[in-house]
Amino acid sequence: MSGGGWEDAEVGDDVATALTLPPRAFTARAWLERELATVFTRAWQLVPERGGDDDPRPLAEQVAARGSRVPVTVAGRPLYLQRGWDDDELRLFPNTCTHAWYPLVMGPGRGPTVVCGQHGRRFDCTGRFLSQPGFAGAPDFPRPCDHLPALPAATWRGLVLAALDAAAPPLAEVVAPVDASLVRMPDTMTRAAAPGEVREVAGNWKQHAWNYLDRFHIAHIHRAPGGLADAVDLATYTTEVHDHAVLQWVYARDPADGFEPALLPDRFADAGGRRVFALWWFVYPNLALNYYPWGLSVNLWQPIADRPDATRFAWYHWVLDPARHAERDRRWLSAQVDAEDVDALAQVSRGLRSGFAVRGRFAPGEEVAAHWLHRKVARDVAGGPASTP
Ligand code: FES
Ligand SMILES: [Fe+2]
Repeated sequence: MSGGGWEDAEVGDDVATALTLPPRAFTARAWLERELATVFTRAWQLVPERGGDDDPRPLAEQVAARGSRVPVTVAGRPLYLQRGWDDDELRLFPNTCTHAWYPLVMGPGRGPTVVCGQHGRRFDCTGRFLSQPGFAGAPDFPRPCDHLPALPAATWRGLVLAALDAAAPPLAEVVAPVDASLVRMPDTMTRAAAPGEVREVAGNWKQHAWNYLDRFHIAHIHRAPGGLADAVDLATYTTEVHDHAVLQWVYARDPADGFEPALLPDRFADAGGRRVFALWWFVYPNLALNYYPWGLSVNLWQPIADRPDATRFAWYHWVLDPARHAERDRRWLSAQVDAEDVDALAQVSRGLRSGFAVRGRFAPGEEVAAHWLHRKVARDVAGGPASTP
């Protein structure tokens, strides 16, 4: 596809002179379609938890047993996760039959074979075509494409991640800096399922990701008194840019709101007794992993095909300390910050559509992470190197 305008949407490598993505990158259907074919195939993505059915277990547990399978959706595409029957591999397959495109897996299940509900084609747990009534003796059959292709999938720290392109970089490489920051964090968090974990919100997915990476707005949108700018020592706000992820962290104003130093690597220790308020990790393109002293808040901004103005927002909590989790709105201002961001994003959306929006510039001392996001998206959609920093 061409004519979407991404060919001349270069952002620039130098934050001091770079331009933001053009407004059409946030409003045009063609841009979104291009992103779904590039950004969202090359990068690893969180597979959303499955709400709404009878199984309250985290997704990773639902596919832990040999032969278990569940249908999932990643970047709007129907897929299913399958644990091996003869091995422990977790595999990801298109949930589209190779005969005539009927879905293969309608709900959670378990067993050595998958049988298509439309004409009975059978596959094993490695995606291999086994048999189908009516095809006995058919020449040149099965072809390679009658088997299901396994796509990259893995569990990591209790989450399930997947990539739609086999050429995605190794997951271990993507999450290496995240892992390094969590080596002392206990592995005992429990999922706290809650209503309203998935909802549609206004604004393009990139507006949400940009907002998340924008430390510049904290002093304004989340201002003191009473805002996030009050709860943290903004002068210590630190942004660390990696190839596939960005870490933002800051010391708490009140040490009681911070991590026990023993939970974090020594590099976060402060001789003056200040404690880290949060580790805010962003994993390209659309995942935030927010580690607080109470546990983990996962935020996922999923694009919706054909609707560049809307985003399917999912959030899930994993709890480390239930008493502190109960205090998250008071101490860590979760609900308040959320509401302030929603309001700010709505204002930006109006500006985007005003006909007056120009390509912006980045404040070099403040917007390194925002520049990183814009540059990566611009490179991906232009077909350049997918995952270079
Ligand atoms: S569509 Fe699956 S067997 Fe025909
Ligand atoms: Fe914000």
